Amino acid sequence: MKNILITGGAGFIGSHVVRLFVKKYPEYSIINLDALTYAGNLANLKDVESQPNYTFVKADICDFETICQVFEKYDINGVIHLAAESHVDRSIKEPFTFARTNVLGTLSLLQAAKHYWGGKMEDKRFYHISTDEVYGALALDKPEGAAPYGSDFFRESTKYAPHSPYSASKASSDHFVRAFHDTYGLPVIVTNCSNNYGPYQFPEKLIPLFINNICTGKPLPVYGKGENVRDWLYVEDHARAIDLIFHQGKVGETYNIGGFNEWKNIDIVKVLIRTVDRLLGRPEGASDHLITYVTDRAGHDLRYAIDSTKLKQELGWEPSLQFEEGIEKTVRWYLDNRDWMENITSGDYERYYEDMYKNKTSFYTT
Ligand code: NAD
Ligand code: DAU
Repeated sequence: MKNILITGGAGFIGSHVVRLFVKKYPEYSIINLDALTYAGNLANLKDVESQPNYTFVKADICDFETICQVFEKYDINGVIHLAAESHVDRSIKEPFTFARTNVLGTLSLLQAAKHYWGGKMEDKRFYHISTDEVYGALALDKPEGAAPYGSDFFRESTKYAPHSPYSASKASSDHFVRAFHDTYGLPVIVTNCSNNYGPYQFPEKLIPLFINNICTGKPLPVYGKGENVRDWLYVEDHARAIDLIFHQGKVGETYNIGGFNEWKNIDIVKVLIRTVDRLLGRPEGASDHLITYVTDRAGHDLRYAIDSTKLKQELGWEPSLQFEEGIEKTVRWYLDNRDWMENITSGDYERYYEDMYKNKTSFYTT
């Protein structure tokens, strides 16, 4: 596969995947297609934008005609599909946008691939990036002590049970992808990954939002009691898994990606406070007072935990970074890249969050 269409490459995970592929495979042609919504930012790709094997196309995945033209013009033979609306809180406010992009946009890409590849599918690949949230929520039946915080895990065989409009839209797109494999023989692969963290994440998500607020002395809006559990993976480890699975994964298969790294939200918040304060030379505990418990997220999933044994056994993938190391790297990156953060947290963004802090509400109720 030489001409690879990566959708959503200007977003958080997509930019890491584009960077990895552009640098590692100079013989490939990498086409990054992105609509540049609020979450897309070409500044995430400054270091690769002038590489000869990189092309950027600004387009909406729902625009079927344009997608067909892109397949034709660049003779696309591999797709890595990351473009999506990705924030759960936004999906509670505006579910239609999520159905449009995540469901119809994915369908438009599938149709274009089927149309352009015709009966010649052997050397092609359509890789759909999904999330562990499609599996629903796990019980928190061992809340005390160290992780794991429950006895059950999400496995590839776990039944889908999405709760938020975001996860429902991702689940629906996964079903369409598999239907195109079963019905038309499209050579698809699906992966379901746990929570990512690292550089270039839009500061609406827990980790970059809280790092920024600790730096600037703003409230840290912890939903509910902060007891919910997420399984965290450093974004470059996810990008490495995507590279491996794209090249060596079996067509028609699903792989779960995760680091066996469960954390309660409130414990993450404490780690972030300690790390930011230490790196800024503040006394220990200086920012503890910023913790603010706010209205819980509606339908807030209690616990996510991925079992990625299949990926380890079949393809030999394992995360390379321990969480402490990954968090230190991440916090340092945000502190060293204040311009990047300031560029996207001015104007409307700032006004929106100011209101939310004043009213002690969650994002989606503001
Ligand atoms: P993100 O919100 O940071 O980036 C999404 C990108 O998609 C942006 O660049 C945006 O401009 C683009 N986009 C949105 N709508 C589009 C459209 N209609 N046409 C073209 N481009 C469009 O998202 P992310 O966190 O990088 O997530 C990427 C993918 O990985 C998503 O499919 C998400 O569901 C999945 N995922 C994310 C995580 C996570 O923790 N962030 C974990 C597992 C899976
Ligand atoms: O599990 C994979 C998913 O992880 C991805 O599919 C999503 O695209 C990604 O956004 C992420 O979803 P979460 O809802 O888990 O991530 P978020 O960073 O929004 O929230 C993490 C946890 O922190 C969650 O339990 C809600 C809580 N939270 C979040 C925010 C933004 C707060 O307590 N306060 C906040 O302000």
